[in-house]
Amino acid sequence: MKQFGRIVMLMGLIALLLPSPRGLAAGETAVLAELHKAKQISCAECHGTSKKIIVDDSEKGVNLSCIGCHGSLDAVSAKAKGHINPHKSHLGQINCTACHSGHNSSQAYCLKCHSYTMPIPGAAAGVVAPVVPLKAKKSAKKQVETTDVVVIGAGAAGMTAAITAHDAGARVVLLEKQPITGGNSMLAAGGMNAAETTFQSAKGIKDSVELMYDDTMKGGKNTNDPALVRILAQNSAGSVAWLTSLGADISDVGRMAGASVYRTHRPTGGDAVGAHIVSVLRKNAADRKIDIRVNSPVVRIIEDSKGGVTGVEVNGLHRGLYIIKAKAVVLTAGGFSANPEKVAYYRPEFKGMATSNQPGATGDGLDLGAKAGGELKDMKEIQIHPTVAAGSRILITEAVRGNGAILVNHEGKRFVNELTTRDKASEAILSQTGKSAYMIFDEGIRKSLKQIDGYFHLDLVKEGGTVKDLADVLKMPVETLEATIDTYNKAVDAKNDAEFKRPDLPRALRTAKYYAIEVKPGVHYTMGGLKINTNAQVMANDSKHIAGFFAAGEVTGGVHGANRLGGNSISETITFGRIAGSNAAELAKPKSVK
Ligand code: FUM
Repeated sequence: MKQFGRIVMLMGLIALLLPSPRGLAAGETAVLAELHKAKQISCAECHGTSKKIIVDDSEKGVNLSCIGCHGSLDAVSAKAKGHINPHKSHLGQINCTACHSGHNSSQAYCLKCHSYTMPIPGAAAGVVAPVVPLKAKKSAKKQVETTDVVVIGAGAAGMTAAITAHDAGARVVLLEKQPITGGNSMLAAGGMNAAETTFQSAKGIKDSVELMYDDTMKGGKNTNDPALVRILAQNSAGSVAWLTSLGADISDVGRMAGASVYRTHRPTGGDAVGAHIVSVLRKNAADRKIDIRVNSPVVRIIEDSKGGVTGVEVNGLHRGLYIIKAKAVVLTAGGFSANPEKVAYYRPEFKGMATSNQPGATGDGLDLGAKAGGELKDMKEIQIHPTVAAGSRILITEAVRGNGAILVNHEGKRFVNELTTRDKASEAILSQTGKSAYMIFDEGIRKSLKQIDGYFHLDLVKEGGTVKDLADVLKMPVETLEATIDTYNKAVDAKNDAEFKRPDLPRALRTAKYYAIEVKPGVHYTMGGLKINTNAQVMANDSKHIAGFFAAGEVTGGVHGANRLGGNSISETITFGRIAGSNAAELAKPKSVK
């Protein structure tokens, strides 16, 4: 009886310490905490029994409790039924609490990009959660921590910088504002461009650093920073080798638009590059016990009296405001394609366009960097990707065209060289009826690229047993589509596309079934950002860098000029992430050891 009394008291104490559930909006079911309580599951079973309950921002302890009762994500995924299995996705190993929130209405993270009807415990079915910026909590006295290197943003660039800095001997804290790591890199589909790699040599592909440099400059309309492009091309093979040494498989080599040769590295069978690389980087960061904190937006980059960067102020989801002093800060917070207001500010003509980006790509890192004195460049250079599945945010990778798919308009006619640069392909689609087009491919192309299966899984594909059947499904003139495909196949046989001068014709479309995905251009990438030098140091102006401040990835500007080539983004994140991480660690070394 005495024991029972103690438990009741402890539960009361815990209930007092925990945030109380907010009121429920009409249509919402109970929050998870209430659902658990209804099953006689005490607060302590999720939060532990310590008198001083501190839920860390990454919610590690709570997640371990979820796993303790429900099993790992993989175990839950194996039990899940249904066509769409949210526990098994390109998001990889993520926290249970990224979706299932105990004291607020749960929100399926995937619904921020997808539009399934998917009930989840503790939330109203099918509710698409708005992106709500976290508000700074007031703390009585801000705690102060110290470390060597702080990295802001846990996409591929951030994780690469963190791993590199750690391996160079630095203490590292990696901060991510979203509830999961991975950023936009997790969605990267096509691959990673690199020249003179062992994988190219094994396949007899002749490429050179010079050719990658030329293609990148040409793609960027020669407005790129030549010194940065040279670094990108020169280090690309080394970056492929580095990722491979961490356990990545990027041995398949495909071709993307604007490239003169096959240089886009991706997993065997043509799987999506981003989810794979992110899972490899996550594992490597975890193996090294790097301090990664999700739900941890940075609200300020701290400067000293001379304008040098000396740390950050963080607003942890549970912890509130605190400070981390550091010898170097690396900003890898990504671009702003998922911030419609910012996109429309720089390019009013893109107002209302869908985006292929993850919801966290809102550009607040750019604002932080600019506030800390970083110079912004090329901010108007926003890339529209020609092939986002109509009515969705799902990017249909350029690799499908690279492997042979064609684009036809609603009248059943080709209208563009499918491997032209993204700006030109987008412009061509936007001048067709309905400002959309169909990407057409056959079973041969489907089999050549593993990631195409995902589009079937997401119900984005229309199909026909013959070209005529497909034309009927698409309500397109049958003779026109048949003639278009016949002419294209003859061009493939002759290795000459007289109509549109497509430079690579890898496959004819002759293997039933035939498939189509309706595509529309969408906001995909922001080329502009913080100006950096070849050491990945953030520049205050053309000639002066900011001490202690580095940046890499989409938050920077200059590498891609006016138009980025497909496959150059992952390449940039790894190469400049390594440079930033290495230079940040070097700066953090005690002077006597230097
Ligand atoms: O189409 C794509 O797969 C996109 C790749 C990229 O933006 O690099």
